[in-house]
Amino acid sequence: MNDIHEIADSEITPPAFYDNRRNFLRAGVVAGSVIATGSLYRWLNPVRLVGSAGTHVVPIQPSDESAEELLAKGWRVDETMTAETSILNYNNFYEFTTQKEAVAAAAANFKTDGWQLVVDGLVNKPRSFSIDDLHSISRPQERVYRMRCVEAWSMVIPWAGIPLAHLLEAVEPMPQAKFLAFETLFDPVRMPGQKARVLEWPYIEGLRLDEAMHPLALLATGLYSKMLPPQDGAPLRLVVPWKYGFKGIKSIVRISLVAEQPKTSWNRFAPDEYGFLANVNPTVDHPRWSQATEQRIGESGRRETLMFNGYEQQVAGLYSGLDLRHDF
Ligand code: MTE
Repeated sequence: MNDIHEIADSEITPPAFYDNRRNFLRAGVVAGSVIATGSLYRWLNPVRLVGSAGTHVVPIQPSDESAEELLAKGWRVDETMTAETSILNYNNFYEFTTQKEAVAAAAANFKTDGWQLVVDGLVNKPRSFSIDDLHSISRPQERVYRMRCVEAWSMVIPWAGIPLAHLLEAVEPMPQAKFLAFETLFDPVRMPGQKARVLEWPYIEGLRLDEAMHPLALLATGLYSKMLPPQDGAPLRLVVPWKYGFKGIKSIVRISLVAEQPKTSWNRFAPDEYGFLANVNPTVDHPRWSQATEQRIGESGRRETLMFNGYEQQVAGLYSGLDLRHDF
């Protein structure tokens, strides 16, 4: 079975806020199999599953490269894609709720019409972009990437999006620009989770400029060939598949080119637990759990976590000379 019912709450160790629920679960209310745990949670908290990302299709540019070329570049992985229902119903998006299985319902009415992305700071051509503007800079490409959450679960997701490098070329970074600072929408009416101070809002993230220019770094506007649904970060989110999932900031409204390393939400929340680089690394454990293995959603056993999430060949050069034992 390859659907949401295989998602195992007890297998997945979420960041700080889930501890209460985990303690509750651990207290003996639930014993037995992992699958039973997930089912009990859903029985106690009935939610209607979203079956599809909708009907708005992303205009994907067909690739003229061979399967081998796409695999070698890391633009595709040769692994079973995670079921669309799982991608749509198991989310981290604290602007709506901290309950993974409830994000889809909580975000269902999030409207993104007229969305503008501002790109500013140390660039020669600052400007704002609609989603159509982004698609006209670069026709969306399909990228089938692994996604590894810092909580030790993973998926394989067919994204659609534009290389971040193409957007950067359009705004022309100045020589002093060394980092990108990303910002999610701040609007507690449309994102009611922002009324609670679970994190400092807006959610912020960052990349080094050379990381952002890497051909694997994607600004995703779709998944499973359809426009990105609210729970996955509509209308625009970052995808950097060699890094932990929290770097993949959702519903982006601003990208500023800056000279200094920007602050990031999870690092500000727990500096000893979530770093800036946050490259997937099976040899550096989270202070509260191992990163050596992961639960691929839809599978029963655990998998070994891969260095740089399996993208070592493509990205290791970005970090040569760095001591990655301190990268978490
Ligand atoms: N972006 C914003 N704005 N808010 C969030 O809570 N959660 C992050 C990341 N981006 C988050 C976010 C985390 S912890 C993960 S693992 C991924 O989104 C989850 O993406 P998904 O729900 O599409 O699987």
